[in-house]
Amino acid sequence: MTHRRSWAEPWKIKVVEPIRMTTAAEREAHIREAGYNTFLLRSADVYIDLLTDSGTNAMSDRQWAGMMLGDEAYAGSRNYYALEDAVREFYGFPYLIPTHQGRGAEHLLSKILITPGDHVPGNMYFTTTRVHQELAGATFHDVILDEAHDPASEHPFKGDVDLDKLDALVREVGAEQVPYISVAATVNLAGGQPVQLSNLRRVAEYCHARKIRVILDATRAVENAWFIQQREPGMHQHSVAAILKLMCECADGATMSGKKDSLVNIGGWLGLRDASLAEAARELVVVFEGLHTYGGLAGRDMEAMAIGIRESVEESHIASRIGQVHYLGQRLIDAGVPVVRPLGGHAVFLDAAAILTRLPREQFPAQALAAALYLESGVRAMERGAVSAGRDPKTGENRYPALELVRLTIPRRVYTQAHMDVVTESVAEVFALRARVQGLRFTYEPNVLRFFQARFEPVGES
Ligand code: F0G
Repeated sequence: MTHRRSWAEPWKIKVVEPIRMTTAAEREAHIREAGYNTFLLRSADVYIDLLTDSGTNAMSDRQWAGMMLGDEAYAGSRNYYALEDAVREFYGFPYLIPTHQGRGAEHLLSKILITPGDHVPGNMYFTTTRVHQELAGATFHDVILDEAHDPASEHPFKGDVDLDKLDALVREVGAEQVPYISVAATVNLAGGQPVQLSNLRRVAEYCHARKIRVILDATRAVENAWFIQQREPGMHQHSVAAILKLMCECADGATMSGKKDSLVNIGGWLGLRDASLAEAARELVVVFEGLHTYGGLAGRDMEAMAIGIRESVEESHIASRIGQVHYLGQRLIDAGVPVVRPLGGHAVFLDAAAILTRLPREQFPAQALAAALYLESGVRAMERGAVSAGRDPKTGENRYPALELVRLTIPRRVYTQAHMDVVTESVAEVFALRARVQGLRFTYEPNVLRFFQARFEPVGES
């Protein structure tokens, strides 16, 4: 008889970092001081930190050992070549430009491909990705499936590109005005939702017939590959590593934040297939990041990322990583808390609009809910709604996306199931007390990527 067993982490813990619960009075002072913005809290004042899965990973003993092999040469570090090998082997891009993190790669890519007046479609926006497109003079267009904007839709691949929307845009502006499409896998702001391999293939076929490049945001592509393996017909026998490679085959290039999938604390890269584009990117990397063989990273960082890439595609790793996210998500669903369905890869997204139904969008319900969660429990989450969406660069008006979410983002290999139980209880408590949560208004609003540094006060106080 075979028994079905639970997933378990494919590691044991060798080093621990103490964390401390604060008092309610301390948290009240901290959140007020932070202008009700969880980005402005000190990490030492946080109990369980679910702000982001970016750079918050725990490295393995192999990666720490790799750090000692850092070759800190200015030029031609051996760690650069180890990274190049890993990117070629697992992502398949022949040309590698290392960058300090994902947005460094987005910056270079936007600068080499965009001419002012261009149009760049994408499967929903990501904050830094869109800002670099806009700073380079392009207009972003969302061409994701409608289902992605509906937190209750159970569509298994909400990250898919809607080819009719893409075609309508290309017909309207002309293919020569569309230098590339940026396809994110998984789609962060849709709730960590995956893209289907067959959809990627159709997008590539459509775009390549019109000389439009396909750029993959590969930041969480390994997690996306796991969803393809689990959900896409005919893909179950393929390894996550093989699926990742098939996904990348659809793309002419990729921007990557290694701080997510690749299990490191810093690092990113731009991968390209075209030699002359790679040359253009190398000309720019020396201006903005560092020499083309380190791109703003220490040699040891590149080594850790090269090892992290190999670890990231191991089946037992990815199954337990997403298993933990789904454990938390299912417990919240069981507690009756509205969350984005189906559960995504890197985070559980609370549907703040459905939780704080009383608060108008102008009072930023997701920002208010994230602040309330910290106040109640010391758990730090992140707003992903109207504050993150910013203002329309042309009209200056607030953008109100359909999704008004709070993201409980799970760092990789950092917290245990017991932490997830405490998070569930904390969220359930705020949910029970939701009638008391006050709306917020800006006291300071930065011009670009405002969510990072904005400050607020409760509406009704002044
Ligand atoms: N693309 C996606 C899909 C991302 O989620 C991020 C970062 C980036 C690009 C930019 O990479 O931070 O290394 O410059 N997301 C972080 C987050 C900030 O918390 O979701 P970066």
